[in-house]
Amino acid sequence: MASRVLVSCPSRFLFLMLSLLVSCFAVAFAGNFQRDVQITWGDGRGKILDNGNLLALSLDQFSGSGFQSKNEFLYGKVEAQIKLVPGNSAGTVTTFYLKSPGSTWDEIDFEFLGNLSGHPYTLHTNVYTQGKGDKEQQFHLWFDPTADFHTYSITWNPQRIIFTVDGIPIREFKNFESIGVPFPKNQPMRLYASLWEADEWATRGGLVKTDWSHAPFTASYRNYNENGCVWSNGRSSCPANSPGSRPGGAWFSQELDFRGKNRVKWVQRRYMVYNYCTDKKRFPQGAPRECNMS
Ligand SMILES: *[C@@H]1O[C@H](CO)[C@@H](O)[C@H](O)[C@H]1NC(C)=O
Repeated sequence: MASRVLVSCPSRFLFLMLSLLVSCFAVAFAGNFQRDVQITWGDGRGKILDNGNLLALSLDQFSGSGFQSKNEFLYGKVEAQIKLVPGNSAGTVTTFYLKSPGSTWDEIDFEFLGNLSGHPYTLHTNVYTQGKGDKEQQFHLWFDPTADFHTYSITWNPQRIIFTVDGIPIREFKNFESIGVPFPKNQPMRLYASLWEADEWATRGGLVKTDWSHAPFTASYRNYNENGCVWSNGRSSCPANSPGSRPGGAWFSQELDFRGKNRVKWVQRRYMVYNYCTDKKRFPQGAPRECNMS
């Protein structure tokens, strides 16, 4: 019977199969925000939309907004596509970062500092270990990050931290504990994202103030993806059968090959606007140790 149905209306059958397949994929891939994060502040200014695939944060004079991952990770890779506040975004800061709790926290940051219309955003990166940061590198981007969604990812594994933009590595922070440089490895971190106002420091050291006549400001996140060794009850468990067939998957042992290292160099040569390693005023005694390693 089934085969007769098959033969008599193959196109309908195919269509059914296809739509079944499509809806299976939709179930597997949609709703990441609903499943993986919670909006933790902003009193309704943060919204999950489009079946959980899109999350919009907004900011006005009274409050910004933000969300955080439900899971905590001890090593992981987090990624999202982000579209930043367009137009005059001076004084606004859009963030996507990993952080552990407490006063000696670890943290790995992407922060997008807004600017006047027509002026470039600054992408600020930093790494904190046990409450101590001071490892800033800042970049301008090779595209307008407000015109479209672009993919930003943080890979954190025992050997290194890699920041990428649209798959292009822009920074690698290696584990140099062997020469006494602290590396975040003991404290589980959660993913946080927020849109807030910081005109005190964000835009040219507070010279440019936020223009509230443009409020509310909105930044959007979509296709959130987290992949990591999930922390629960004092242990982290890495997904065993992920691609790469190592604990936690390919990201767990990810490193930069020759091409990756060259791309970091290319980005840093052309787009880096601040590097703590070359800030002689801050480090008159010489750059921090990891700066002299390659
Ligand atoms: C704003 O734009 C100016 C150039 O027009 C640039 O020097 C500055 O780094 C930009 N970013 C911030 C956050 O001020």
